[in-house]
Amino acid sequence: MFSRRLVFSKVGGGSNGARHFGGTVVGDGTVERDKKMKPRVVVTLPLPGAVLESLSASFDLQAWSKPESIPDAVLSEWAGEADAILCSLGTAITAELLASSPKLRVISSISVGVDHIDLAAADEVGLPVGHTPEVLVDSTADMAVALMLAVMRRIVEADRFVREGRWGTGWSTDFFLGSDLSRATVGIVGLGPIGRAVATRVQSFGAKVIGWNRSERNVPGVQQVDLDALFEEADVVSIHTAATADTRHLVSASRIDRMKQGAVLINTARGAIVDEVALVAALTAGRIRAGLDVYAREPLPHDHPLLRLDNVVLVPHLGSATVATREAMLERALINLTAGLRGDRLPWCANPGVYPDS
Ligand code: GLV
Repeated sequence: MFSRRLVFSKVGGGSNGARHFGGTVVGDGTVERDKKMKPRVVVTLPLPGAVLESLSASFDLQAWSKPESIPDAVLSEWAGEADAILCSLGTAITAELLASSPKLRVISSISVGVDHIDLAAADEVGLPVGHTPEVLVDSTADMAVALMLAVMRRIVEADRFVREGRWGTGWSTDFFLGSDLSRATVGIVGLGPIGRAVATRVQSFGAKVIGWNRSERNVPGVQQVDLDALFEEADVVSIHTAATADTRHLVSASRIDRMKQGAVLINTARGAIVDEVALVAALTAGRIRAGLDVYAREPLPHDHPLLRLDNVVLVPHLGSATVATREAMLERALINLTAGLRGDRLPWCANPGVYPDS
């Protein structure tokens, strides 16, 4: 239905952050809606121009086009009259917003995680929430392994060393020593699709894999252990569980304390799962190392203590950031959006309980 060639380079828009499609601009700059009243869709993040143009054939769009998050007041004003919201993880969809947006028929998020959306409030008003599972599994698992290797083989630190002109002596036996993934025990927290894809990848490197999951999961070659034992035994702990009220600070100060000297923590899931203050303390003391894609606050504040540490590799929430994966996520989000507006069941629904037959 939607072209898979979404041309990601064409993201951009108007100078005041807003782009209107499907309406007519009148003298004072406001937009009159088309007479035939297409459903009104609020898009809360910049999207490729070609996608917006194609959506505007069917919908009356109000699209936020600036890289910074849409301000709450703008979102609240736009959503008040909207039939649907197309968003991603940078936009908080709160109970208050839902209460003041009575016409909403669907929320479609371009993400697998929906911790930015108050699902309980959506359930309460029977509002389906779409998300984009499955298609980002491989990209996110690749990122987790990339971070493991970058930390264990000190790649970013070594790159800085070379660029800064500090490579003054020749090869020596103790120069930039790291550790081997092939000799490591990798502990996977959360044995869902991404955790299992990471297990397969590191097994192919020769690593031993242990795992923890809230419910019993039979994963070939993965010995399931108690969560505290996982933190004690693993040379690498990789987090792949969803962020919920139950998993907030699952990686607590006491679990970080249980980690071996020099062990590595990898987080490509959500920042809220890790007690970041305790993590910074353990990194600062040189007790452990880390590779992080996600943070308690995103974007990471420019004065954050993590930025001063050499034993952590930091990337800006890029787990699913490949062209093919982002196209697939966007495609699913658009299919969810149109299904919701037609009154059809969302193919990828994060709160299927809203449907009476589920
Ligand atoms: C990314 O973090 C996602 O939830 O899709």
